[in-house]
Formats: sequence, C-alpha cells, structure tokens
Amino acid sequence: MTLLTETAGSEWWRSAVIYQIYPRSFADNNGDGMGDLPGITSHLSDLASLGIDAIWLSPFMTSPQKDAGYDVADYCDVDPIFGTMSDFDVMLKTAHTLGIRVIVDLVPNHSSDQHAWFQQALAAAPGSPERARYMFRDGQGPDGSLPPNNWDSVFGGSAWSRLTEPDGAPGQWYLHLFDESQPDFDWSNPEVREYFEGVLRFWLDRGVDGFRVDVAHGLIKMDGLPDYTPDPEGGSMGGDADDVPYWGQPAVHEIYREWHKLLATYDDDRALCAEAWLPTPEKTALWVRPDEMHQAFNFPYLVTEWDAVALRRVITESLRAFPGVGAPPTWVLSNHDVVRHASRLALTADNPQGDGIGPKSQGKPDPAVGLRRARAATTLMLALPGSAYIYQGEELGLPEAMEIPDDARQDPTWFRTNGERYGRDGCRVPIPWQSGAPAYGFNDTGASWLPQPEEWAGLTRDLQEADSESTLWLYRTLLAERRERGLGVGTLEWLEGFGDDVIAFRNDAVTVIVNIGAAPVQLPAGVVVTSSGPLEGAQLPVDTAVWLETV
Ligand code: NOJ
Repeated sequence: MTLLTETAGSEWWRSAVIYQIYPRSFADNNGDGMGDLPGITSHLSDLASLGIDAIWLSPFMTSPQKDAGYDVADYCDVDPIFGTMSDFDVMLKTAHTLGIRVIVDLVPNHSSDQHAWFQQALAAAPGSPERARYMFRDGQGPDGSLPPNNWDSVFGGSAWSRLTEPDGAPGQWYLHLFDESQPDFDWSNPEVREYFEGVLRFWLDRGVDGFRVDVAHGLIKMDGLPDYTPDPEGGSMGGDADDVPYWGQPAVHEIYREWHKLLATYDDDRALCAEAWLPTPEKTALWVRPDEMHQAFNFPYLVTEWDAVALRRVITESLRAFPGVGAPPTWVLSNHDVVRHASRLALTADNPQGDGIGPKSQGKPDPAVGLRRARAATTLMLALPGSAYIYQGEELGLPEAMEIPDDARQDPTWFRTNGERYGRDGCRVPIPWQSGAPAYGFNDTGASWLPQPEEWAGLTRDLQEADSESTLWLYRTLLAERRERGLGVGTLEWLEGFGDDVIAFRNDAVTVIVNIGAAPVQLPAGVVVTSSGPLEGAQLPVDTAVWLETV
C-alpha cells in the first residue's frame, strides 16, 4: 500500500524539523539559574550544526511564571527574567542569519491574572464590559456559593474560583481551565478577537515565522456551559474524549480562518501550528483544513505505545488524515508537558499525559531499555514524510528527571493535586552542555531553577560531541540524511512480510525497518545508511531501527 503525502505546496513548514526551545532550561547567560534569550542566541550555531530548520520558543513574554510562562501578563513584551526586547531581536536576527526560522508561542485561551484586562475586570462591576472579556458567572445556590458548573481544571481542582468584590463581599466566579492564576478569555467577545489580531501583528511585524498556538482546541466553550464529568482514563489536555464542552467546539475554527487570512497578508509563508489535544489524526486534521492553521501537533502519534501494530495504525491514519485536507503530517515524541520519550517508552505502568514520574511512582522505566527505544523511535520518526518536532535535550537522549525533591517542584499540577500527580517538572530540567562545569554548562554559576540529576554528568553535549556512537551524533546523522534524501517530502510505502512486531516501509530510496518484538529480525538486502544501535550481522536486534539504501 502506498501512502502519498500531500503535494499541495513547497512551503518550508511542510517538511521542516522544528526544535522546541524551553527558554527557562536551554541556556542561562546571566547565571541566575533561569535560561534566557542571550543564552539561546549563544547556542544557535549548535542548533544549526544539529541540522534543524526552525526553532519554536515556549513563552518568554512578561509573566508572573505561575505556569512557567503560559500565564502571560503582557503579550507584547519580554519578561525581564529572559532579557529584553532587543535581546529577542538579536536572537531572531542571529537565527535568520543561520537559516533557522523562529516560531513563538501564543497563549490565547487565557491570560495571567496579572494581565491589565483581568485587573480591570476585578475592579469593575458584574456585567461590565471589563468583565465581559473573561468568563465571569454568578455562582449556584441561594447565596451563589457553589461554582457555576462542575468543570475541573486540567491541573486538578475546580475550574472556577470565586472573587471577593472590591467591597469585601463574596462575588462572582471566573473560569480557569488551568491554574486559578490563568483566567480564560471569552472568545465570543469581539474585543478579545481584535486584541489577539494585534498581538499576532506585533510579532509578525518583528519578523517571526509563525506561532505555536497554545490550547488551540479550547478557546470556545459550549453555550450554557453544561456540566461535564471527564473519563478518569482520558488524557488531561483533551486526550481521548470526544464530547467535552470546553474542547474542540466547532466555532473555534472561525478564529483560525481569520488568523489564516491575517498571516497571508505577510510574505515568507508564516505558519500557525495548533496545540490541540484530540483523540485521532482525523479529528486533529480539522484544525489544518486549507483555510485554517498550517500544522497541528500529532498527539495521537505521541501517545501511541511502543507497539508495532498501534504505530502502523496511527502512521497510516496520519498519512491519510493530514494530506487528506492538504496539510503535512507532523510527528512528535516529546515536549515540555509529557514524560521524555527516553523514559516514557519503557514505562511499565500507565502514566497519563501530564502525570510525570517521581520518587514514589509505579512502573519506573529501565534507563537502558528507555534509551534504546527512544533512539529507535526517533530513527523511525525522522524517516516519516512530513514535519517533525524535537524537544530540547532529546538529542542527548535525556531521560525524565525522576528524583526531584518535593520542595523543589514547581508545576502547578503538583500543588493543585496535593502531590498526587508529580506533573511536568521532570521533563523541564535545564539541559547539560559541558561535563565538569557548573550546572553542566547551563550557566557558569551552578544555579538551576530545577535540580539536575547526577547521572546527566555522563550525557553532556561536549562528551557526546566526541563520541560518534552518541545520541547527539545519531540525531545529526538522521537529520542530515533526511534532508539529503528529501524524506520530509517523500512517499511512504508499507512493506509486508516482516511480521506483526516489525515496522517496515520504504520512503523513496530508503527502506526503514524497526524491530519492536522480542527476537532479532533478518534484514533484507541493502546498504546501511544508519541505525539506532549496533546490528548483529544481517540481524536487527530488538528495539532497534535501521535505514537501508534500497539496492
Ligand atoms: C499547554 C502548554 O503546553 C502547557 O505547558 C500549559 O500548562 C497549558 N497549555 C496551559 O497554557
């Protein structure tokens, strides 16, 4: 069976490999323990040498950092902990000079409670235009002391908080799908729409190449805000469910149609990428219809277990669904919200998205198995046609940091669930650059906003640079070969006859075989381009992937 990818265009985002920078944890230039924009600039040449096409920066805008910057107080300025607007301009210019495009994060579902609009809403009366920019409602019950509905926050606890009005009386409630410091905007209000068009223009005028749009499935809430009880097994950011009154409401698409038109008034193929947690590639593809966003993260692929049948299914569905609407398929294995795939793929107990792994977690992964699978999974991913996302540190094979002490934790999930869910700190730890250096070269003072695991001493970039078998060199080789052979714009053809536990396909001249079973697999004839681990003669060991040049 041959699965064609789209042929609708040659825009850069159709086949780009995009590297996610989590600014807090990438590189810290001023030594305060928090990464910053000058730190990013100083390492852009390392990213160019890795072979990526673009970077996406998680939020660096003004924020009280209650949710690591996803609580924005000023959408058009840089938070001093990350530097200044001129640091941003230097970073952008340096990236462009190196041929790297830059995508910034846009957080339109909610602002920080420190945003001027929310502060004005607090000072204004119920029913005022100031309150109408957010989701304020009266409570239920005779004295309004019950929340307006039963919705839970993604981070745990109720999605509603009650105000004390300026006169000291208990007042209205406001909706926050995330932390109480992140009030949801009311997107049925034209003023909100107009405001965000201004924000888009602000960054486009500065020269960014596009936006990763946070919670792109959540901006519109169902009329009447009906009660909803999620499936306890469902993924916390949307995941499995189909009928959630705050995710995936049809009216959300109108917003992106307007944004699409706005971006089209700029040159150079600016792009929108949806962070929309939806149950299937088919549903996700609704966000990338021709007049909407350009890309959407393929979360159904990310959450697929290390299982050949499941992976074949999700790849097939993705190669139908996205090209089916003229969009590129995308692929992603890790980001700042999920357990790093060098640990996740070897977990032996369920770990819903966002739960994290901590000292008391069940089913902790074997690090050697995790790394072997992660290398194989990436070797598979980077052979697929379409666009792929890499999360900082995965090119070093970093595992999840699993032993962060309770008193060092920062994720609101940890606090809002009283420590029941560890949350996402374990995938957000500052990355190691240099062995033997303070904070492994993250800065030169040794400060680090989350503690770095001792085992990372052996995973630093400089050590891996000097070792041709390292994960860093695997990524570099995969990216160079992918580019050279045009795999991002290739055509996938499944190969039969390798059994259920094996993934086998051809992408143009490259044959890819991945052994997800329990016994070695006989390889077909071909010249080895690269492999995720050592081969045993003509046998492919378990948890190993290979690219062969078809002879
Ligand atoms: C998704 C972001 O990736 C996550 O980090 C954040 O906490 C939520 N959206 C809320 O903005």
